Amino acid sequence: MCELCDNAGKGNRFENGKNENESCNERANTLNDEVGRILVPREKIAEKVKELGKRISNDYKDCELVLVGVLKGAFIFLADLMRELEINADMDLISVSSYADGTESTGIVRIIKDVDINIQGKHVLIVEDIVDTGLTLKHLKELFSTRGPKSVKICAIFDKPSRRKVNITIDYKGIEIPNEFVIGYGLDYQGRYRNLPDLCVLKPEIYTKK
Ligand code: PRP
Repeated sequence: MCELCDNAGKGNRFENGKNENESCNERANTLNDEVGRILVPREKIAEKVKELGKRISNDYKDCELVLVGVLKGAFIFLADLMRELEINADMDLISVSSYADGTESTGIVRIIKDVDINIQGKHVLIVEDIVDTGLTLKHLKELFSTRGPKSVKICAIFDKPSRRKVNITIDYKGIEIPNEFVIGYGLDYQGRYRNLPDLCVLKPEIYTKK
């Protein structure tokens, strides 16, 4: 039962014997119907994030570090990773898109919002949710390298190596996954499912249906 609809629906008109509550419950059920299975459970993700946080804390001790999260997908990983750091680190966000609304990378990396801070003289760690073709990170690494940082490295929680189109080094790599359409832990399908705590597989019939 959706409490918000329950309140908002009070006094509203009923159609065909159904009220707004029922349509909201149907949407919730649809979400479950579209999620195929859990590929990486939240516990395994948390364990890996902790491990990456420890490594980064050791490597960047006494350094001026800036984590740059790549929106939108990396927002959950960035928040989790920062809380595992045992050192001071600044953070910023860059927003890019290369997939438009589809399931295939267009190959064109569009910057929607650049970082606000000056990264000159700082150690930059780009934080990504997933490396697929590698085009986004290649582009971002090249872009940040032109701005005079002390170093630019990459941290990604998920890696799909079978999809790679360009050579890219993931300095801090989380979990390798097979070539399936994944959602959850920040990753979406048409703006949905980013809030799933586990990395899940989207049922193929959902993205292949017309
Ligand atoms: C996804 C993902 C990475 C990128 C990886 O972003 O979050 O940023 O694709 O793909 P690549 O290795 O093939 O370049 P997307 O463009 O879907 O935007 P979003 O993060 O806002 O969902």
